[in-house]
Amino acid sequence: MRKGLSNTRTEQFFTQSRRTIYNNKYNSKRSATNNNKNKSFYVNAAKASSGGKFVVGGNWKCNGSIESIEKLCATLNSGKITADVEIICAPPMVYIDRVQSKLKPPYQVAAQNCWVGKGGAFTGEVSAEMLKDANIPWVILGHSERRSLCGETNEFVGLKTKYALDTGVKVVACIGESLAQREAGNTLKVCFAQLQAIADCVSEKDWDNIIIAYEPVWAIGTGKVATPEQAQDVHAGVRKWMSENVSAVVASKVRIQYGGSVNAGNCDELAQKPDIDGFLVGGASLDGDAFVKICNSAAHSK
Ligand code: PGA
Repeated sequence: MRKGLSNTRTEQFFTQSRRTIYNNKYNSKRSATNNNKNKSFYVNAAKASSGGKFVVGGNWKCNGSIESIEKLCATLNSGKITADVEIICAPPMVYIDRVQSKLKPPYQVAAQNCWVGKGGAFTGEVSAEMLKDANIPWVILGHSERRSLCGETNEFVGLKTKYALDTGVKVVACIGESLAQREAGNTLKVCFAQLQAIADCVSEKDWDNIIIAYEPVWAIGTGKVATPEQAQDVHAGVRKWMSENVSAVVASKVRIQYGGSVNAGNCDELAQKPDIDGFLVGGASLDGDAFVKICNSAAHSK
């Protein structure tokens, strides 16, 4: 594990973070058993969460220029959002401020990544504190491109998720299997391991501020979208896993996005599936008109 992240300081950081997280988990578990009031607090808090609104994310990845991004913002602002939908656009870091000042509600912004802990001597990174300071409410973590290209492990993504949430930044947490893993019949096993690493780090209450994005790697940027049935099957499996391993309340509230070649032509059918609560869109989010259409597919959600 930890290919590319194996320097001593990072190792020390892992050890320290793990210790803090396990201590916190141990203490909160112990006080939950000792105090029933805590339990009802969790239930009420979960009920008061987002209410399960359909949520569409635009992952702009490492694309665009000032010119193209300003054009995209103008198209998004002039498009009509007619559905009841939450929308989160994730521009490249250097453009977030500009995009945030251009986009009008209901558009919110997200970063595509942040560091696993407090800022400092981590060249090229951005800390969750900085996102918070810049009023960036969301961050996408654990995208498969970061897992495969930057060596981010399940455990690292779990730690990042916890750190961002503790800092007050909400998380879109990505999971998903590769083609080889699917063909070997390991789709759910892979997704559950990715979820477990997050669940190991966060509290039950933290799930109020997490969206799960199921993105099969073989469908990302390939034009090969999962069929609505394939996506629904995994989403239902993920929800069941959440129910058995986190809580029934969290499982019923957590929003699960599908991502992987979603476009203006396939979104309506996918949105009808009962466990698909939104989309994380890459390529098609760079086309303003297509993205508006995808956001409005929320009207088909059941
Ligand atoms: P895609 O990307 O829509 O271009 O397949 C989705 C993603 O990577 O989030």
